[in-house]
Parts: sequence; structure tokens; C-alpha cells
Amino acid sequence: MTSLQLEHKTLPVEDVPLAYKIEIEEYPEDEAATLESLTFRQANAPELFQGCYVDGTLVGYVVSTLASGNHLTHDSMSVHEPQGNAVCIHSVCVAKAYQRRGIARAMLKEYLERVKRLNQASSSSESSGAGHQERVLLIAHKELTGLYSGAGFEMVGLSEVVHGPDAWYEMVYHF
Ligand SMILES: CC(C)(COP(=O)(O)OP(=O)(O)OC[C@H]1O[C@@H](n2cnc3c(N)ncnc32)[C@H](O)[C@@H]1OP(=O)(O)O)[C@@H](O)C(=O)NCCC(=O)NCCS
Repeated sequence: MTSLQLEHKTLPVEDVPLAYKIEIEEYPEDEAATLESLTFRQANAPELFQGCYVDGTLVGYVVSTLASGNHLTHDSMSVHEPQGNAVCIHSVCVAKAYQRRGIARAMLKEYLERVKRLNQASSSSESSGAGHQERVLLIAHKELTGLYSGAGFEMVGLSEVVHGPDAWYEMVYHF
């Protein structure tokens, strides 16, 4: 558990460029989201873009959109289907200076609580459609699967997504 005082909140639109700065610093060039895709996600599913702040500074975030189906595909990474029953996580990212201090672990715990709250609130009138999710899906390289299994995700197996030289593993969290 981190000793840092973390504040988790819905990322405000003005912080999207700050998230993008962290994204391109931390992800390999061919895996990083563009500013356009982060802007699209914030605009279409704002409550699924969760920022993590230390003393008012953005240090990490988790961002998803919704899709239908049991598996994460290339297509589900690039759309937002408001009636989709799966939360597809695109990025879990922490700024370098704050890594290995338990922030990703804390962000994931908070994020799953957030989706549970959205489900319970029966606020399905929200424009993004969040509020009826059955599962959370993500893909990760082998070395990071322990982070997600520690947060309660189960291994599905090799993902159908092929991108770059290293295999992707699909993981799922069921509500
Ligand atoms: C992956 C990432 C989000 C981890 O953030 P973090 O705040 O440093 O992670 P935590 O400190 O909460 O780590 C929790 C546990 O996850 C595992 N873990 C974290 N980073 C890891 C890494 N680089 N390699 C292997 N295991 C790792 C460890 O088991 C760790 O526990 P430990 O520190 O007690 O050994 C961060 O390194 C990052 O932003 N990387 C670039 C973007 C990325 O690859 N995101 C994941 C996409 S699937």
C-alpha cells in the first residue's frame, strides 16, 4: 500500500493533454494512444476516465470505453458502444517518477469500485451508457498479468489482438 495521499476522480477535460503527456512518455510509441483518441474517450465516456492526483498533480489514470461481446478486439479498442456490457480498459498508466509505489494497484481497486457504483446507481440515463456493465476486459503483456490478477482479474488466455512483437494476454474481471 502506498503512503502517498492519492485523490481519484473523473478526469476533467482540461487534464486530457496532461494524461496524453504521461501516455506518450510511458507507452512504447506504437502502443500509445493519440491525443485524439484520449479526447474521444473523455468526451464519450467521461466517467470511465479516472485520474489519480497527488497534491493536485495528475500522476496516473485508467481509461476505458464500452463494447459488446465477451472478448476484446481491435475494434472494441477504437469505439464506444453506449449499450455495450463490457468495460474495455485501454490504458493503465502511471508517471515514471511515481511508479512502483502501489499507485496502479490503488487505481485499479478504485476503478472497479467506480464501475460497481455506476452499475448500482442505475443512472443509465448517463450519456455514456455506463451503468450496466457485466465485465471489465483488458489485454496485457505477460510480465504485467500479475498486477491485474492481484486486482481480481482472471486470465482468459492469449488475445486475438496482434500488435507488435510480444503476445497479448486477455484478462477479465466479472461483477
Ligand atoms: C504498468 C504500470 C501501470 C504499473 O504502475 P505502478 O504504479 O508502478 O504499479 P504498482 O506499484 O501498483 O505495482 C503493483 C504490482 O504490479 C506489478 N508490477 C508493476 N510494474 C511492473 C513491471 N514493470 N513489471 C512487472 N511487474 C510489475 C508488481 O507485482 C507490483 O508489485 P511490487 O511493486 O510489490 O512488486 C506502470 O509501470 C506504467 O504506467 N507502465 C507504462 C504503461 C503500461 O505498460 N501500462 C500497462 C498496460 S497493460
